[in-house]
Amino acid sequence: PGVSEGYPGVSQVMSHGYFQHGGVTFPGLLYSPRSLEAAREFPVEDDDVFNVTYQKSGTVWMLEILSLIRQDGDPRWCRSVPNWDRGPWLETLLGLRRARANARPRIISSHLPVHMFPKSFFGSKAKVIYTVRDPKDVLVSLFHFARIFRPYRDPGSLGDFMDKFLQGDVPFGSWFQHVRGWLQLRGRENFFWISYEELQQDLRGSVQRLCSFLCHPLSPAALDAVVTNASFAAMSHNPMSNFSLSPGFILDQNRGPFLRKGISGDWRNHLSPEQSRRFDLVYRERMEGPPKNPSGDT
Ligand code: A3P
Repeated sequence: PGVSEGYPGVSQVMSHGYFQHGGVTFPGLLYSPRSLEAAREFPVEDDDVFNVTYQKSGTVWMLEILSLIRQDGDPRWCRSVPNWDRGPWLETLLGLRRARANARPRIISSHLPVHMFPKSFFGSKAKVIYTVRDPKDVLVSLFHFARIFRPYRDPGSLGDFMDKFLQGDVPFGSWFQHVRGWLQLRGRENFFWISYEELQQDLRGSVQRLCSFLCHPLSPAALDAVVTNASFAAMSHNPMSNFSLSPGFILDQNRGPFLRKGISGDWRNHLSPEQSRRFDLVYRERMEGPPKNPSGDT
């Protein structure tokens, strides 16, 4: 199925358990038109902190960092509560229920494009942290993820999957639309964006910048504790952060771990020079020039 023309609020049932809502594809397992409408109507509180990404851009990494900052570097919360309860997913009914029950200030995660985000956010003081990642690495990470995440269709070959990714014909829609849409919020006081690559290059400095955005200063020792406990190795060993507790009908971990490699530039091991060139061409076409509609699509 192709990407629909997009009538916000109108869902279209599609084959293979996918459906469309707001012009974006979602899998029918975990997500539903009802859950997406509930997310749109979610009553945001001024002290909410939203961890927003296009999928596979470092969502659970940022969630770990935000959890640790909230606890002043103390890892006990991260070691005793699964990440999906610490920073529940806004677009699932289970996540929404958990978000409503969690103590404030809440951390809430979301992959929603900006045009599907809670309406009440836009008049609030709630904060959004938006993490972006090199889209070629997102593609490769998503390709592997689609093979273990049961709600998604098998991706087939990387070449075919790349075509779908570039067309936005994948769950959560177009990377280009997502990034352009969200980055239009740059300059707002309650919007902060950072890249996966910056986190890789300077985690301590990145945490410091996050702390100042969150108005949550940390001592040097607490800062060190955040950096240590949010490392790929620490998260991989923590069952509350590595998804090993996910039920098999959601995540088939016999085919690979959720925390796969945790590096930048893995696309070089997967994309041919020709595929990479084709990707660059589409990237330039989609990312240059003004967005063509209010939702940020190009
Ligand atoms: P790879 O598949 O390239 O390894 P998301 O949480 O948005 O689904 O993103 C998952 C990606 O972030 C995976 O990428 C995962 O390994 C990576 N990741 C998670 N925690 C990380 C960490 N502490 N350091 C580096 N990468 C991390």
